[in-house]
Amino acid sequence: MHEPERRAEGSAHAKTILLGEHAVVYGRPAIAFPLASLTITALARTTTRGLSLETPYHRGSVARDDGTSPREVLLAEAALRHTLDFLGKPHHGVDVTVTGSIPAARGLGSSAAVASAISAAVAGLDGVRLSNAERFELVQFVERIAHGTPSGLDAHATMASGPILFERGEAHPLAMATLPPLVVADTGIRGHTGAAVAMVRARRERDARGVDASLDDIAVLVAGAQADLASGDLAALGERMYVCHGILSELGVSSPELNALVSAARQAGALGAKLTGGGQGGCVIALAPTAAAVPQLAAALTAAGAHGVWSVTGSEETT
Ligand code: MEV
Repeated sequence: MHEPERRAEGSAHAKTILLGEHAVVYGRPAIAFPLASLTITALARTTTRGLSLETPYHRGSVARDDGTSPREVLLAEAALRHTLDFLGKPHHGVDVTVTGSIPAARGLGSSAAVASAISAAVAGLDGVRLSNAERFELVQFVERIAHGTPSGLDAHATMASGPILFERGEAHPLAMATLPPLVVADTGIRGHTGAAVAMVRARRERDARGVDASLDDIAVLVAGAQADLASGDLAALGERMYVCHGILSELGVSSPELNALVSAARQAGALGAKLTGGGQGGCVIALAPTAAAVPQLAAALTAAGAHGVWSVTGSEETT
């Protein structure tokens, strides 16, 4: 008997780190926001054929054997196969189409979001709704392939429905007086988080005391930012962002293009700006003085060469 086709969907959104990237890999806290305007949706369907996978990052079926597939496809395939293993299912009879708008390799959590959406969709084919803990573990499996020693921040942040404080491996909802008027701007240049994390690690092997002091300084900025967000002190929050960008630059994870967008934000009157995510390419996050000033800040960043600018709305639904 021919079984009717079954379908299920999963989705996840982008994330942006306000403060704490890199330091979080060494157990320090970090603050992240959902970036609701950038999302990934995975549609899983049962088929009579093998496995097939289509993503916004390539066209075709699952990864080619000749090593020419983009990294993003290999990661998506790892998510698909690992979810099937988790469910105890064979590696055939599933077709997954991933669509969405999160640019890859920009520090916005695209690898975590793709893995999260695929795992939810594939489990959904069997009527299984993964718990957050199960979904986290499946995403972390792929994140380990993507960048070696993921802190877990991206996996949590791309599933969270609001801003989080990530501390000691756990994500907590963040108390805020008001939503800070934040924008994210893309240099258009790929940044490889794994390489940036490896660079900080190599530097720490040479100078543990110096790098640990920088990571501690970032932890102090995160604690201060938590208080600023609770009291609504945007000027103090912005100053911490500029200081953090300086520390990350000294750690070697900024780039001329990221520095140019941070300077453009400052000239346009931003209260704060810094790189966000792994760095060495990717995006900056900037704080406008008021919500009404966001369009002007976004326009200044575009004029300075940003390839995309998105405002941070602070909440998102994930299925
Ligand atoms: C990447 O979005 C954030 C990093 O701190 C890496 C991690 O937390 O695993 C650079």
